[in-house]
Amino acid sequence: MKPIDQLLMANKAWAKERTDDDPQFFKRLESIQTPKFLWIGCSDSRVPANEITGTEPGEIFVHRNVANMVVHTDLNLLTVLEYAVHYLNVEHIIVCGHYGCGGVKASLTNKSFGIINKWLRNIKDVHRFHADEVEAITNEDARVDRMVELNVQEQVMNLAKTSIVQKAWRERQAPHLHGWVYGLSDGLIKTVCDVPAGTRIDPLYEFYE
Ligand code: CO
Repeated sequence: MKPIDQLLMANKAWAKERTDDDPQFFKRLESIQTPKFLWIGCSDSRVPANEITGTEPGEIFVHRNVANMVVHTDLNLLTVLEYAVHYLNVEHIIVCGHYGCGGVKASLTNKSFGIINKWLRNIKDVHRFHADEVEAITNEDARVDRMVELNVQEQVMNLAKTSIVQKAWRERQAPHLHGWVYGLSDGLIKTVCDVPAGTRIDPLYEFYE
């Protein structure tokens, strides 16, 4: 059997197992979507949001891109954010990076990756903000991993800088923001930062209405 057909066969088995366990499973999910969480994660195939958090369909609204970036001109990200925050009323937004991230690794080199360079530029900016700390780490893997943490932290702050999040903070004191890093080697998530709703940020980035 071709690998692609295997996926479809596994899907049939999964759907059957679900309805065997709980005949109303799909019926319930069909009519309503009320996730409490928005997940912004890396596209890396080893970091699937639902599996690693033990959550079910319907529980997490998911956006993934290379290196879990929150780029303020990215219409795709902004659309997901606006919808999750102002229509689904999520209570938490999680930015989840992972150690050994290929995107972060690539950003630390001087290699050209074609169009990908433009995306990696955003990570190089994070590197520049924290150049002293990052440059002081001599072990290459350790430098990548610290950059992964700093990148997650910056992306969480990028969320706080959007008028989308600030408006929700004023109106309903949510969502709370969380920066996490997942370990590929042990499957465990480490919290890097928590930014509760209403946290004061650099006034330069605050909108008052
Ligand atoms: Co990655």
